[in-house]
Amino acid sequence: MINVFQPALGAEELEAVGRVFVSNWVGRGRLTEQFEQAFADYVGVSPGRLHSINSCTEGLFQAAAVLDFGPGDEVILPSLSFVGAANAIAVAGARPVFCDVDPRTLNATAEHIEACITPRTKAILVLHYGGVPCEMDAICALAAAKGIPLIEDSACSVASSYHGQACGTIGDFGVWSFDAMKILVTGDGGMVYCRDPERAARLDRLTYLGLEQASGFTQAQRGFRWWAFEVSEFGRRSIMNDIAAAIGLEQLRKLPAFIERRRQVHAFYDAALAEAGWLQTPPALPPGVESSYYFYWVQAGSPHRSGLAHCDGERRDRLAAHLRERGIYTTFRYYPLHHVRGYDSDAQLANADLAAETTLCLPQHQGLSDNDLGRVVEAVLAFDA
Ligand SMILES: Cc1ncc(COP(=O)(O)O)c(C=O)c1O
Repeated sequence: MINVFQPALGAEELEAVGRVFVSNWVGRGRLTEQFEQAFADYVGVSPGRLHSINSCTEGLFQAAAVLDFGPGDEVILPSLSFVGAANAIAVAGARPVFCDVDPRTLNATAEHIEACITPRTKAILVLHYGGVPCEMDAICALAAAKGIPLIEDSACSVASSYHGQACGTIGDFGVWSFDAMKILVTGDGGMVYCRDPERAARLDRLTYLGLEQASGFTQAQRGFRWWAFEVSEFGRRSIMNDIAAAIGLEQLRKLPAFIERRRQVHAFYDAALAEAGWLQTPPALPPGVESSYYFYWVQAGSPHRSGLAHCDGERRDRLAAHLRERGIYTTFRYYPLHHVRGYDSDAQLANADLAAETTLCLPQHQGLSDNDLGRVVEAVLAFDA
């Protein structure tokens, strides 16, 4: 089976984990701090604004806590978002308000977001679909004009940048994921960026039980009653550990090579699938942006009508089944949340519906061999569209 996503872990990660075992310090410690420092350098922010965390979902929940989401608040996010983002809003008692997306990039634009703004809008959350940055100039200008905080879900965009600035560091909050299906993998884990120093300090406390002292590690430096503590507000325990950080440090060193291979995969698909007139490959990257090449998505409209302007996913679903029968796993990200009954949304989002009916993510990861790519393309071109 050719996986749609897959981590690339090697001997270096295994040796790094071995050293953690030998050190006998497996919890949060020196390596976690090193990883935070290295990641802060990588995305170009000061380490005090960046916190490692045990998952990106937890980072979204913590952003909701730090921004005080609560009953009566609305938070705008694209319908094609990760379920954890909407849950973080809903658990806080606020209402997720789903906006539409561009039908080709699957990113929300400033216009889509603006259409959902009300006096109750507490925050805007954007997702850089597949690692391609949203049009951040227009979105940041809108957020600033309305005085609304902006959260970037950068789970897909660990190596993406917009006019030279790393995605995740452009808004007020940014969250990255290092889970098992991401590009940089630590098992589970993530980072949170917080622009405002006071909010960053609060985030620091809330990710470790609300304790005034950063960790038991720093407490132990005290010479007297080192077991005493103070809680300023009630937080959770959301920290990374040194096993994950040891893996993350090795993965960060390999990241440029991962991205280069993903770029090659993307270019190979673009060239090879150009001859399949019945599907559309992803739009070309706009100038001034870098992608992480997290997804490679194709769009296939209805065979019975022309173009993409129809919403029966029949051809896309048949393509997915055809590839699966040939040992090629595909998927669609992200299932449209305005159709998830639990969120009780009455939004009418034509582009999100269209994208959700026509889009399929092909295998895209740094472990794909040229032979794998040949198999995928051959199977797609052999499909009876
Ligand atoms: C866009 C997006 N945001 C957030 C997450 C959550 O990441 P994690 O699994 O680290 O909690 C994911 C995971 O798939 C994701 O794809």
